[in-house]
Amino acid sequence: MPSTEELLRLEQQVLFPNYARQPLVIDRGEGCYLWDKEGRRYLDLVAGIAVCSVGHCHPRLVEAISDQAGRLLHVSNGFHIENQTLLARALTERSFADRAVFCNSGAEAIETALKLARKYHYEKGDKGRFRFINFHNAFHGRTMGALSATPRPKYQEGFQPLVPGFDTAPFGDLDAVRKLTGPETAAILVEPIQGEGGVFPAPPGFLAGLREIAKASGALLIYDEIQCGFGRTGKWWSHQHDNVEPDIMALAKGLGGGTPIGAVLAREEIAQVLKPGTHASTFAGGPLVCAAALAAIDIIESQDLLANAAETGAYLQARLQDLAPSLSGLIKDVRGRGLMLALQMTREAPKLRDDARAAGLIINQTSPDTIRFVPPLTLTPREADEAIDLLFPLLKQLAG
Ligand SMILES: Cc1ncc(COP(=O)(O)O)c(C=O)c1O
Repeated sequence: MPSTEELLRLEQQVLFPNYARQPLVIDRGEGCYLWDKEGRRYLDLVAGIAVCSVGHCHPRLVEAISDQAGRLLHVSNGFHIENQTLLARALTERSFADRAVFCNSGAEAIETALKLARKYHYEKGDKGRFRFINFHNAFHGRTMGALSATPRPKYQEGFQPLVPGFDTAPFGDLDAVRKLTGPETAAILVEPIQGEGGVFPAPPGFLAGLREIAKASGALLIYDEIQCGFGRTGKWWSHQHDNVEPDIMALAKGLGGGTPIGAVLAREEIAQVLKPGTHASTFAGGPLVCAAALAAIDIIESQDLLANAAETGAYLQARLQDLAPSLSGLIKDVRGRGLMLALQMTREAPKLRDDARAAGLIINQTSPDTIRFVPPLTLTPREADEAIDLLFPLLKQLAG
């Protein structure tokens, strides 16, 4: 087995250099903890960027995956796939949607949602409706359609020409959306909580306003709940806090509990337009990942993790807020919902992630001044306390 140093050296030679990786090889995980190859333990408040929803290597998840792997790993969508159908039922029973279609990642879920919206209007005879409203600071993924929906130069530069048809409004600005929406608008695409952008929840009334504009103009409303959905905010779907349903919803990340699966959910009349041959993907909705997602749903419900995300999330948020008075103006904002939180500082701290790691805490920074917390939904108040105990001295040092 190569050592960590040998692996890092080999990586320099053989991998594309497209990731800025931390100098660490994670070897195993359990619950909210990770261990590196040297046996050091870390408290993980990132969960593979909001992916390991039920914690690392939950025994029931591992069992479901192992059982399925021992029986059937893959079969094409040319056959009926039991777990896929059961998962579609589980998701539709827990959401606004009537039907589900599966894919392999978040970006692919966005591609599917965009295609679905265009196809819906096309099939209705409204062939000129091809444009989308998207939002400043949004993140929807890296494939061409998803990238085109992500209006940020740092992601788009060098990849032009992009897919045409995106009209970008400031997040939260209903008047701007109204001005941009017209007879060519196929759909409005929005994250109910912007994730990569720094954890910005839609302002009160924004989703309701978008729903109204979409309805009045004949456009569809698409939610990207890839990061904020699947229990992260204390309800199955983040938009349930606002009680405003979309027409289409994209999912991925936490859905598979750590396995790569995405999904698009939609109402009946919209789902119906993807007839055989119009859309497909070889691995989509395979037995293995669907077994994992079914297990994740079962774990979330049997362990009451929606309530835990709400309660432990509120607890962590309060503890972060309580730090402010002892940090002489360092904390600018603490925001988010459930276990999707951010702490924004008044100054940049580009080394904070590395210092936290050295202290045994895995955090993520969406920008040099903003820490994002998206831990497993199993996080306990005691683990939240431990995180605060590890983080506070580092913040104190920054505060000077
Ligand atoms: C809101 C949102 N949409 C889409 C994506 C893209 O997902 P993936 O990386 O699985 O393609 C992400 C990933 O961070 C995301 O947070």
